[in-house]
Amino acid sequence: MERVKTFEFSEKDQDRILVVQIVEIVDPEYGMFTWPCAPVLGQFVLHYREKCIGKNVLEIGAGTALPGIIAAKLGANVILTDAGRFRQCQENSMKSCRLNNVVDKVRIIPLTWGDFTPSLLDLPKIDIILGSDCFYSPSDFEDILVTIAYIMERNPSCVFWSTYQVRSCSWSIEDLLDKWGLTCTHIPLCMFGGDKENIGGHDMSNKHTIQMLEIKKSS
Ligand SMILES: C[S@@+](CC[C@H](N)C(=O)[O-])C[C@H]1O[C@@H](n2cnc3c(N)ncnc32)[C@H](O)[C@@H]1O
Repeated sequence: MERVKTFEFSEKDQDRILVVQIVEIVDPEYGMFTWPCAPVLGQFVLHYREKCIGKNVLEIGAGTALPGIIAAKLGANVILTDAGRFRQCQENSMKSCRLNNVVDKVRIIPLTWGDFTPSLLDLPKIDIILGSDCFYSPSDFEDILVTIAYIMERNPSCVFWSTYQVRSCSWSIEDLLDKWGLTCTHIPLCMFGGDKENIGGHDMSNKHTIQMLEIKKSS
């Protein structure tokens, strides 16, 4: 069953509201509905909109692609990606792109973490990578960071903005960051309005365990 969820973000220091419509499908697959990390990352993108305008943005594990579509609405050139085997996810995000009139700003391609396929090897210059709730299964952590490290090797000033839902205190990416030559900064949610009880018009009051990470290539 398909439904359209509407997000309404208030823009910083402005009276305008940024409205984003996202197609969701009631389905057990992870990428068919919008996870709580996505409005938080969307809020971050909106807060730092100046950093996105005209930039090449890649969203990994995009699912319903709320942060990537926000970036496109703000004027970025966006590539939305999800695992090759989740075709329906890509078709779904195309529907959302149409609804939000960003088809000319967005390309949708398969990109499976850790796979060195042409879709990864042929990527253009990337300035910003977005990833909302991609670190949800420890067995994927290294594949994600290998992919990020590869992109950053080719684009040394690229940054990876990622929201992370803490699901277990024993999970950590620290050693893997070290292994793949990456460094991570935790950005307090209060710095960009990511700590609000309501983000994009949706109740976030019980979503206390989300963290905002900025990952870069180690110097
Ligand atoms: C927890 S969901 C988050 C979806 C979306 N970013 C959000 O926050 O609403 C994880 C996403 O990662 C994608 N994914 C899972 N395994 C993957 C893989 N090996 N390569 C690329 N994407 C993958 C899933 O299809 C899903 O869209």
